[in-house]
Amino acid sequence: MTGELLARNNSDPKIAVIGERLRTTTRRMSRLIDDVLDLARGRLGGGISLSIEGEDSLAQLLENVVAEMRTAYPGRVIHSKIDIGIPVKCDRGRVQQLLSNLLGNALTYGAHDQPVIVTADISGGHLEIAVLNEGEPIPQDMQGKVFEPYWRPATSKPGGGLGLGLYICSEIARAHGGGIKVTSSADGGTLFLAQLRIA
Ligand SMILES: Nc1ncnc2c1ncn2[C@@H]1O[C@H](COP(=O)(O)OP(=O)(O)OP(=O)(O)O)[C@@H](O)[C@H]1O
Ligand SMILES: [Mg+2]
Repeated sequence: MTGELLARNNSDPKIAVIGERLRTTTRRMSRLIDDVLDLARGRLGGGISLSIEGEDSLAQLLENVVAEMRTAYPGRVIHSKIDIGIPVKCDRGRVQQLLSNLLGNALTYGAHDQPVIVTADISGGHLEIAVLNEGEPIPQDMQGKVFEPYWRPATSKPGGGLGLGLYICSEIARAHGGGIKVTSSADGGTLFLAQLRIA
């Protein structure tokens, strides 16, 4: 909140920058706490519970996540192609959280001088959300592990958190009757694809 006030209400650019950083840090801390609470609830109760509603404007909600990330990571290029022409039954907050986690990872671990590409569309009765980044690939033998809770390689770049983000993404996709997969190579980049049933 303090960060937000500093960022919005100060004409001094230095203070505004400090405000923006505070805001980003607060957002990240709050996400970490939410993630740990999610894990605790999941472990106790078996899976993430959803609040499913019919969403007419999911495309706009996903664009909002992309816009927030553009603000949080100025100087980075994020291309988005979000095409969801029909109402979708889903938990809007959870779907936003899924995209936010994938996009945060792509911006943190992908090549900083290359664009990140976000696509979302409807295919075969599923909502498909994909995030692609260039950079160091995830080694083949680690690609199965990235969705485990608390897993992050010893060499993982600083700037990440506890190793919960992808586990929570997979739980969100699973709770929507779908799943998530990764492909990663030096030539093709790293692609996370989440598929969620929408009806
Ligand atoms: N897009 C990506 N490109 C390369 N490596 C990735 C990518 N996304 C995830 N990883 C690797 O997978 C690990 C696990 O990711 P995950 O999101 O679960 O946890 P985290 O980012 O380390 O922490 P948290 O998400 O809890 O803040 C990361 O530490 C990173 O090494
Ligand atoms: Mg993460």
